[in-house]
Amino acid sequence: MKKIILLGYMGCGKSTIAKELSKKIAVPFIDLDEFIEKKVKMDIKTIFAEKGEIHFRKLEHECFVELLNLTEPVIIGLGGGTPCYANNHELLKREDVLSVYLKASIDTLVSRLSLNKSNRPLIANKNDVEMKEFIATHLFERSYYYNQAQYSVAVDEQTIEQTVGEILAILA
Ligand code: S3P
Repeated sequence: MKKIILLGYMGCGKSTIAKELSKKIAVPFIDLDEFIEKKVKMDIKTIFAEKGEIHFRKLEHECFVELLNLTEPVIIGLGGGTPCYANNHELLKREDVLSVYLKASIDTLVSRLSLNKSNRPLIANKNDVEMKEFIATHLFERSYYYNQAQYSVAVDEQTIEQTVGEILAILA
C-alpha cells in the first residue's frame, strides 16, 4: 500500500482528516510536527525560538524522509510549510506515495486559525487583520508547492466525513 500524505496550509484540517481516515482504513497516522517534537524533545515553538526557522526546516526535511522510508503503511500529516522547503515537493510525486492537498480558502483559514494560533510561531503574534494579509500572501507563495500533490480536495464547504469520503474514493 502507498503511503498517504496529507498537506496544506496551517488550519486546513490535516490532522483532523488524517485521524478520521486512519480510523476508517486502519492505517496509523503520524503527524510530522509531533514526530519532530518527540525526536528532539522540544516543541515546535521552542525550536523556532531557540534554533531558528532554518534549523526547523532541516529537521523537518530529515524527519519527512525518515517517515517516507518506513516500510509499513502509514498516513503522514505534513506541516503547513513542509512541501515548500528542500526538495520536499518532489517527494510528493514518488510512486510509493499518494499525496493529497487539502485546499482551503483564505477566509476559512483565518477563521480557524484565529482560534488556534498560539502554538504556531509564524502567526502567533498577529491579530486577525494582520493574519488575513499574511495568509493571503503566504498562501499565494506556497500554492505552487501545494499544487505538486497528486490530488487536491477542496475542504471549504465540506464536512470532515465528506472530505474523508473523497480521499477514500481516491484510494479505491
Ligand atoms: C508551519 C506549520 C506548522 C508547523 C510550523 C510551521 C508552516 O504545522 O510545522 O509551525 O510553515 O506553515 P501545521 O500546518 O500543522 O500547523
